[in-house]
Amino acid sequence: MWFEERYGEVYGDLFDRFRAIRPRPALRVRFPEVAGRLRERGVRLEPVPWYGRGFFFEGDVSRELARGEVYLQDAASMLPPVLLEPEGEVLDMAAAPGSKATQLLEMGARVVANEPDALRRRVLERNLVRYDGWEIAGMRGEELWKLGRRFNRVLLDAPCTNTGTMSRRAVEMFTPARLRRMVRLQKALIRAALRVLEPGGLLIYSTCSIDPQENDGVVRAAVRRGMVPEFPLEGLRRTEFGYQLLPHDFGTEGFYAARLRQPL
Ligand SMILES: C[S@@+](CC[C@H](N)C(=O)[O-])C[C@H]1O[C@@H](n2cnc3c(N)ncnc32)[C@H](O)[C@@H]1O
Repeated sequence: MWFEERYGEVYGDLFDRFRAIRPRPALRVRFPEVAGRLRERGVRLEPVPWYGRGFFFEGDVSRELARGEVYLQDAASMLPPVLLEPEGEVLDMAAAPGSKATQLLEMGARVVANEPDALRRRVLERNLVRYDGWEIAGMRGEELWKLGRRFNRVLLDAPCTNTGTMSRRAVEMFTPARLRRMVRLQKALIRAALRVLEPGGLLIYSTCSIDPQENDGVVRAAVRRGMVPEFPLEGLRRTEFGYQLLPHDFGTEGFYAARLRQPL
């Protein structure tokens, strides 16, 4: 199979260590006091190291879920909003279903949430509706410059092969041709991100992929255009330009995030 062959080659013995790991269930609490209430009810919570309102959990959270007080989300995918240190207005270039957009709103940002796919945009809107401070755009990321706006904070959580999820679907769909198509799209999107980013501003590029070509390989194109990688967090697995979480590091999905600053 393509998947086994490629990642056996890329990661060697490490691949055997993380191949069979299933991510631990995790959630974000919308308000800090919700965590206390969950604990009182006997739900076991263990803090996610990089996000104060994120927890690995065991127990029944259906009541809080129905009230919109918790949001189920893989812990690794809570990383990009943290790296972005949101302030003011944030552009989320590929936003549906809205995990990171809602996290950014919780962190006090105003969010322009863009999603070109109409069906996915509807799900995004359903998730955003409980929050204030957002607007939705429906453009292909490559065309966002047509908005005529620049942003000091941009999140590009790019469409990818999903190899970090290790899901059966991702494994079955993986082919070298699909990987090449994704990388082409990702490079177009990261170039588009640079067009709308203000000088001095931050761009987070992230994927739920373990493939170096979709990750550092894409970021390299932005570094060649003058973007400067930053590493504000300690204790996470690093690559040349970003962080690459592997499933056995913390019991999350495989996930990549790079923080890049546009020089003044
Ligand atoms: C990894 S998902 C985003 C997940 C989302 N950020 C979240 O946290 O919930 C990638 C998204 O990119 C969208 N997409 C696909 N092609 C795109 C393009 N050319 N420009 C912008 N978004 C695109 C997909 O429809 C999909 O919703």
